[in-house]
Amino acid sequence: MSKTQCEQGLRSGARRKWPRISLLTLGAGYLLWVFLCDRDVAAAPGREQLVSAQPPATHNVTISDFNYQGPVSPTSAPDCSYYQQRIQLRPLLSSTVARDEFEAWLQKQTALSFERLLANIGDVELNNLSSTEGVAEGSVIASPSKHAPDYFYQWIRDSAITINTVVSHISNSSQSSGLNLTLVGTVLKYINNSCILQRRENPSGSLEPELEGLGEPKWEVDNSAFTGNWGRPQNDGPPLRAIATLNFLNTLNQSGNSLENVINQYQEEFKTDLKLSFQNERELSDQILALDLDFVTKNWRKSGFDLWEEVNSQHFFTALCQLKAVSLGWNYYANVRPEFDSEQKSVAGGLHNSFGDILNFLMVDGGFSNSAKNHIIETPQILGQRSGLDIAVLIGSLLTHDTEENSPNSDKFPFDVNDSGILNSLYGLVKQMEILYPVNHQRANLNLGVALGRYPEDIYNGVDTSEGNPWFLATSAAAEVLYKVIWHYQSLNKDLIIPLDGWKSEFWSLIFDRVDFSFQGHDTWQLVIPYHSPAYNQTMVSLFTLGDSFLDKVREHVSDDGEMSEQFNRYTGFLQGARHLTWSYGAFWSSRRWRDQALKTLNA
Ligand SMILES: *[C@@H]1O[C@H](CO)[C@@H](O)[C@H](O)[C@H]1NC(C)=O
Ligand SMILES: *[C@@H]1O[C@H](CO)[C@@H](O)[C@H](O)[C@H]1NC(C)=O
Ligand SMILES: *[C@@H]1O[C@H](CO)[C@@H](O)[C@H](O)[C@H]1NC(C)=O
Ligand SMILES: *[C@@H]1O[C@H](CO)[C@@H](O)[C@H](O)[C@H]1NC(C)=O
Ligand SMILES: *[C@@H]1O[C@H](CO)[C@@H](O)[C@H](O)[C@H]1NC(C)=O
Ligand SMILES: *[C@@H]1O[C@H](CO)[C@@H](O)[C@H](O)[C@H]1NC(C)=O
Ligand SMILES: *[C@@H]1O[C@H](CO)[C@@H](O)[C@H](O)[C@H]1NC(C)=O
Ligand SMILES: *[C@@H]1O[C@H](CO)[C@@H](O)[C@H](O)[C@H]1NC(C)=O
Repeated sequence: MSKTQCEQGLRSGARRKWPRISLLTLGAGYLLWVFLCDRDVAAAPGREQLVSAQPPATHNVTISDFNYQGPVSPTSAPDCSYYQQRIQLRPLLSSTVARDEFEAWLQKQTALSFERLLANIGDVELNNLSSTEGVAEGSVIASPSKHAPDYFYQWIRDSAITINTVVSHISNSSQSSGLNLTLVGTVLKYINNSCILQRRENPSGSLEPELEGLGEPKWEVDNSAFTGNWGRPQNDGPPLRAIATLNFLNTLNQSGNSLENVINQYQEEFKTDLKLSFQNERELSDQILALDLDFVTKNWRKSGFDLWEEVNSQHFFTALCQLKAVSLGWNYYANVRPEFDSEQKSVAGGLHNSFGDILNFLMVDGGFSNSAKNHIIETPQILGQRSGLDIAVLIGSLLTHDTEENSPNSDKFPFDVNDSGILNSLYGLVKQMEILYPVNHQRANLNLGVALGRYPEDIYNGVDTSEGNPWFLATSAAAEVLYKVIWHYQSLNKDLIIPLDGWKSEFWSLIFDRVDFSFQGHDTWQLVIPYHSPAYNQTMVSLFTLGDSFLDKVREHVSDDGEMSEQFNRYTGFLQGARHLTWSYGAFWSSRRWRDQALKTLNA
């Protein structure tokens, strides 16, 4: 409807007609529309001096039930009619197979994924990697694949992300002590191994002068330095390792166990001497954790290669992980273990300062948000060559918003999954990749989750370069974002508010039809869905269904025995690239963990 029609409505005296709406049923929607236009037009600039001086108003379009079928009553608020009927939930399918079959697959694949993940970590209690392959205890291999491609190495980033997954499994244990000792041992070995890597000279440097050696991304499985050409340094490794370490310490603390205590328990239970380089939390803090955090404060301003090891610049993913590490570290040295802080110079103070600087870089100076884009830009420096859309943005948000309890500064931690830049990144990737990858073409019109890859311009095929493909870890990440969005809103305990602006709220067009009200001119409009109203719950179910449909896409492409590689072919859908990629299994397992969390809030 055009503005002219609205103005006609106004001139014909819509306000005076208002009381007569009770006599009309079919015409009610139209008249309410006119009434709303009246408010809109009256506020438009230049109509009247008095009115035009007013700032733009924000109008609520409140919807409490998308399925409401009853008559429109004259006493209902004006915005309860036309607009409500205009915006609808889009119909969604959760999977392309029967519900039971999907649930059964999910169950099986979850258990299998965790087994496969543990099969790639050097630990004599879990596997024979150490005796048969010479893998150091606590070393995480990226994949068992030794040629085409050779991923038989440990990467600091992949390892830290994997161990973080193991840590979240420990904390969900239903054992009496609350801890699975086998897995505690795996993490202890990993941290012990990190201590060795931190001190080993390598092509990125050593501990002096500014800990540059910690930026080395890739190591031989036996802990010797990898000396071939590589994209180095990669500055996301140490912060991710610090995040995993702090999550582990926090998990122990919540179970009421000291580190010293669990080391002893483990050694008694497994009748072994771990010969760890730390005997208690203070030693772990001084010898390992503090170095990773110090690396971040000293090096975050420097360029490095991105998580895909291709571009030497500054990256959103890296900066967000760095911010998270200093945020957790600051909380740790200021509130949890102030007695571990150094007497000479305050570690907590240094981390606090870095927090402010990195935050400013992320929000302003880094250029990750750009008024010409409604999504986040992973690497602003190459914006001319790439769109900036990258699954790294979503993975960064997931890894930095991964715990259930709120640490004191957690509400200040930016780029949570409800951030419009994060959600629009998901939208942008979906829209590009549903066209880019032929395996998605059947789904594109069905409003189902699609297979996602790293970034649209990708040409890495898993072995060399030709055309990029969808990745398991990227497709699982999309599902995890959606489950976390549900969990986030349910925990907030507030009405869901979505700007009715097709650009700002582009993501929401996956869930709702016709949410673009930007043509309404001067004023702004927002959709308000009251907390736990029928419409709120219907919206949460839609988000959940969409999340499941991404996992259903994973289901379509895993092998019959549940194997995941790094990629699957964009035409045939078959496994491609490094087989049994550790990170693929971890990403699937994490998204399943958050699916359970979301489900709990839906059934509450
Ligand atoms: C719109 O809805 C929000 C959330 O329920 C509420 O806080 C706000 O006061 C409402 N605004 C108007 C103009 O009714
Ligand atoms: C390790 O190897 C031994 C003998 O070769 C075998 O009995 C055992 O089951 C293997 N352990 C695991 C975890 O695979
Ligand atoms: C601990 O976790 C491992 C790996 O998932 C599992 O095999 C083992 O049964 C668990 N131990 C206990 C006591 O639950
Ligand atoms: C822990 O690291 C030390 C070297 O610092 C090493 O001697 C020891 O064997 C490691 N422990 C395990 C279980 O690998
Ligand atoms: C857990 O952390 C608190 C400080 O936040 C500390 O006082 C307490 O001793 C810790 N508990 C254990 C078992 O280490
Ligand atoms: C996301 O949620 C936080 C609360 O955790 C809130 O402060 C923020 O405004 C929300 N962002 C958007 C874009 O809705
Ligand atoms: C926690 O563990 C229980 C039992 O081991 C399992 O059923 C449940 O799915 C797990 N929940 C999460 C969130 O991982
Ligand atoms: C919506 O779901 C919550 C649980 O998530 C429940 O407590 C509430 O009663 C539901 N609201 C309606 C209107 O059914």
